[in-house]
Amino acid sequence: MWKKIFRSGSDTKEDAAALMNSINRENLPRHVAIIMDGNGRWAKRRGMPRTYGHNAGVKTLKKILKTANSLGIEVLTVYAFSTENWKRPHTEVDCLMQLFAEYLDREMQEMNEDNVRIHFIGRTDAFSPLLRDMMTKAETMMAGNSGIHFNVAVNYGARDEIVRAVQSLMSMSKAGEMQPEDLTEELFDASLDTSGDPPVDLLIRTGGDLRLSNYLLWQCAYAELWFTDTNWPAFSPEEFLRAIQDFSGRHRRFGGLDDE
Ligand code: IPE
Ligand code: IPE
Ligand code: MG
Repeated sequence: MWKKIFRSGSDTKEDAAALMNSINRENLPRHVAIIMDGNGRWAKRRGMPRTYGHNAGVKTLKKILKTANSLGIEVLTVYAFSTENWKRPHTEVDCLMQLFAEYLDREMQEMNEDNVRIHFIGRTDAFSPLLRDMMTKAETMMAGNSGIHFNVAVNYGARDEIVRAVQSLMSMSKAGEMQPEDLTEELFDASLDTSGDPPVDLLIRTGGDLRLSNYLLWQCAYAELWFTDTNWPAFSPEEFLRAIQDFSGRHRRFGGLDDE
């Protein structure tokens, strides 16, 4: 299994098994979030159009999902399309929509066999009825699976998500179903798209930029951050494991003091 994942397109010679063994299983992140950035720059460096980078990025995603699932990560949330990405040229947006549809069509069965439970977060109502149908079909097909919870953020923006949560809470309050003082952090958390998931433990961003780009702002309140210059299409399972390994050696205080 590991050999299969690591030999498929990876360019490092690191011994995957050794890397796996060095990870402290007692201290795995429950929820890993990824900002998959750098597709366009990766393609440009190869003299290719940006869409070539997005195509390559899909292949990386498949490998990272398999690695995270095999490792026993509970939740993986990936940023596929932001509320701000509509500013890009129509041709690029169309290509990304096409890629989502192809990805679902091609990978749905295998994800299901891998026991993955997919869920789309963000304003999915902005997409074409065909794409929305495919998303719902995939969610329904995998709803009973017990493996990794795979959240795909599409037309997602953290501020938009927070505003939508506030709107639904205000409606409940207006209908007399709750009072303002009933609102707790837990209730607010349960009103977000990631309802039911633990907070993000580890946030990975590829592509070299050191920013959050409107991603999971509430959920990342105490996340450990891990940035790499590697562009997303070149990001390997080995580098993913190195991020997990680094996380497993970190000491989180959550505002408290060290024991000793
Ligand atoms: C990330 O790669 C994918 C999406 C945002 C859809 P980019 O397309 O942002 O690639 P760069 O950052 O321009 O290289
Ligand atoms: C963040 O990448 C969004 C996704 C990865 C989908 P961007 O490329 O859109 O982020 P900025 O514009 O560099 O902040
Ligand atoms: Mg980018």
